[in-house]
Amino acid sequence: MKKILKVLIIILIVVVVLAGGFALFISMRGIPNYGAKDPGIKIVPDSIRIERGRVLAGMLCADCHMNSDTRKLTGADMDPEHKLPFGNLFSQNITQDKTVGIGDWTDGQIIYLLRTGIKRDGQYAPPWMAKLPNMSDEDIASIISFLHSNDPMVVADATPDKPCEPSFFAKFLALVAFKPFPYPDHVVAQPDTSNKVEWGKYLVWNLDCFSCHSLDYAKNDYLTPTNSAGYLGGGNKMPEGIYSANLTPDNETGIGTWTEEQFVKALRFGIKPAGTVRLPMKPYLLLSESEAKAIYEYLRTVPPIKNAVNRS
Ligand code: HEC
Ligand code: HEC
Repeated sequence: MKKILKVLIIILIVVVVLAGGFALFISMRGIPNYGAKDPGIKIVPDSIRIERGRVLAGMLCADCHMNSDTRKLTGADMDPEHKLPFGNLFSQNITQDKTVGIGDWTDGQIIYLLRTGIKRDGQYAPPWMAKLPNMSDEDIASIISFLHSNDPMVVADATPDKPCEPSFFAKFLALVAFKPFPYPDHVVAQPDTSNKVEWGKYLVWNLDCFSCHSLDYAKNDYLTPTNSAGYLGGGNKMPEGIYSANLTPDNETGIGTWTEEQFVKALRFGIKPAGTVRLPMKPYLLLSESEAKAIYEYLRTVPPIKNAVNRS
C-alpha cells in the first residue's frame, strides 16, 4: 500500500513539473517565429490602383489601424475593454514613416505578411491581424499602391507603436492552433466581374463576410471558406455579445425572402426592413451598388441552412 502511494506521489510530482515546464516554455517562447521571406515583388502604382486600394483599405484595414486622434493609420488599442482573452493588442503604425511606420518595408515584405501572416522579422501576426490568402494579386497590388500614396491616411506620421503583449492563452493558441498560411505558388486572378455569382463569392470571401457570418470563428476555414462550419448560416457570437445573422437563402431563418433592394440597403447603409444593423456589422459605405448586388446574387446560390439565430 505504502509503495503504491509512493509511486503515485512520484507520478504526481513528475506531472506537475512537466506541466510547469510546458507552461514556462510557452510563456518564454511567445509567438513563434517562422523566418522572414521577401518574394521580391515590386508594385508599380497608378491612379486606378491607388483609388481601388483606398476603397479596399477603407473596408479592410482602417477598422483596426485607424487612430481617431491622428486620423491616420497610426494604430490603435484593439481591445480597450478587454473583451477578448488575448492580452493587450495594438494595431501598428502603417503610415509611411520610416522608423515607426512601414516606410522602409519593401513591397514584397508587405505582401508576404498580408498573404501568410508572417512579419518581416519572421514573427507570426496571430488572427488579430487580417490575412488575405484569397485576394487577387491585382487587389493586393492596389492596397500596396494606396499605402505608398499621398493620401492623408497614410502619409508619414511619427506616432510611436505600442507593442502587443499577448496573453498566456494567446501564446498557447499560437503553439497549437494558429498557423501561418502558405504563400501562394500560383497567380491569384481577379474574379470575372461579368459573372455576378463568381464576383459576389470573391467579395464574400475577401471582405471577410463569411468569417463573422459562419458558425464560429474557431471553426472557419480561411483558405477554403466554403469548408467553414455552418458556412454563412450565422450564429457566431461576437465580442459585442450579439450573434451574426444567417445570410443563407433559407426562407424562415435566413434572408431567403429579402429582395435585392432590401439587401443592398442593409449592406451599404445599415438600414433593414425593420430597424438598423448593429455593431460590429457596419454599413459598407465604400462598397459600390454593383458589388452589393453581386454579393446578393452569390448568396442566393449558397446552400440554405436552417439556423434560427438568437437576434436579441
Ligand atoms: C482585425 C484588426 C486588423 C485588421 C483588419 C488589419 N490589421 Fe494590420 N495589424 C493588426 C495588429 C493587431 C497588428 C500587430 C500584429 C502583431 O504585431 O502581432 C497589425 C500589424 C500590421 C502590420 C505590421 C506592422 C509592423 O510594424 O509590424 C502591417 C504592415 C499591417 N498590419 C497592415 C495591414 C493592412 C494593409 C491591412 C488591411 C488589408 C490590415 N493590416 C488589417 C490588426 C489589424
Ligand atoms: C465583424 C463581423 C461582421 C462582418 C465582417 C460582416 N458582418 Fe454582416 N452582420 C454581422 C452581425 C453581428 C450582424 C447582425 C447585426 C444585428 O443583429 O443587428 C450582421 C448583419 C448583417 C445583415 C443583416 C441581416 C439580418 O438578418 O439582419 C446583412 C445583410 C449582412 N450582415 C451582410 C454582410 C455582408 C455581405 C458582409 C461582407 C461584405 C458582412 N455582413 C460582414 C457581423 C458581420
